[in-house]
Amino acid sequence: DRRIRIAPSILAADFARLGEECRAAEAAGGDWIHVDVMDGHFVPNITMGPAIVKAIRPHIAGVMDVHLMIAPADPYLGAFAEAGADVLTVHAEAGPHLHRSLQAIRGLGVKAGVALNPATPAEAVEPVLDMIDLVCVMTVNPGFGGQGFIESCLPKIARLRELVEGREIHIEVDGGVTPETAGNCAAMGADVLVAGSAVFSAGAEGYAARIAAIRAAA
Ligand code: DX5
Ligand code: ZN
Repeated sequence: DRRIRIAPSILAADFARLGEECRAAEAAGGDWIHVDVMDGHFVPNITMGPAIVKAIRPHIAGVMDVHLMIAPADPYLGAFAEAGADVLTVHAEAGPHLHRSLQAIRGLGVKAGVALNPATPAEAVEPVLDMIDLVCVMTVNPGFGGQGFIESCLPKIARLRELVEGREIHIEVDGGVTPETAGNCAAMGADVLVAGSAVFSAGAEGYAARIAAIRAAA
C-alpha cells in the first residue's frame, strides 16, 4: 500500500538516550525508526555498530529500518539481522556484488533495501527488482544529518515509481526532508520519508508537531 510512512532518523537524536528517543519518536507518531550505520570509510563519519542497534531494538515497537553506509557490508549482515533489523538497506555503490548482498539479506529473513547516492541513476536497481522490498533515494550525500535537500534527485523518485510498478517495493527518501520538501517527494511517488533534524531539532515536546507537519505536507 502507498500510505505515507514517516521514519524519524535517530542520527539526530540524543545518542546518550537512544532507547528513550526511539520510544518518544514512536509515541509522537513516527511509523518506522530509521537507524544510520556509518563506518568512516564508505562515508566520512562513524556512528554505531550491531551492539548498539541490538540495544535499541527493545525500545522500538514497530519497524526498525537499518541503513548501512558501510563497505564492505556483507561481513556484517548477519550481525545486523541478529540485532533485530526489520529492513536492511545496502548501498548500490558499496561494492561490486549488490546481487550477492541482497541474496544474503533475504536469506537471513530480513527485508532488503538498496540505497542510491545522488549521482547513481534509478536504473541501477532494475536488475534486482525481484530481490528488494525498498529503494532508498538519497537526497543528500550520505554521512551527515542537517544537509540541504538536493532538488535534482526528484525526477529519480518519479522514475523509480515507474520502475517498481506492480511490485510491493517501498520508495524511501532520505536527506533534507522537511515540511517544505516532503510534498514534492510524495508527489513524485515516495511513500517512506526519513527525517532526522526536522524531527529531533524540536526537543521531545515538539516531535509530534514536526512529524504531523511533514505528514500534512506529504
Ligand atoms: C544521512 C542519513 C540520513 C540522515 C538524514 O547520511 O542517511 O538518514 O539522518 O538527516 P536529515 O533528515 O537531517 O537530513
Ligand atoms: Zn539514512
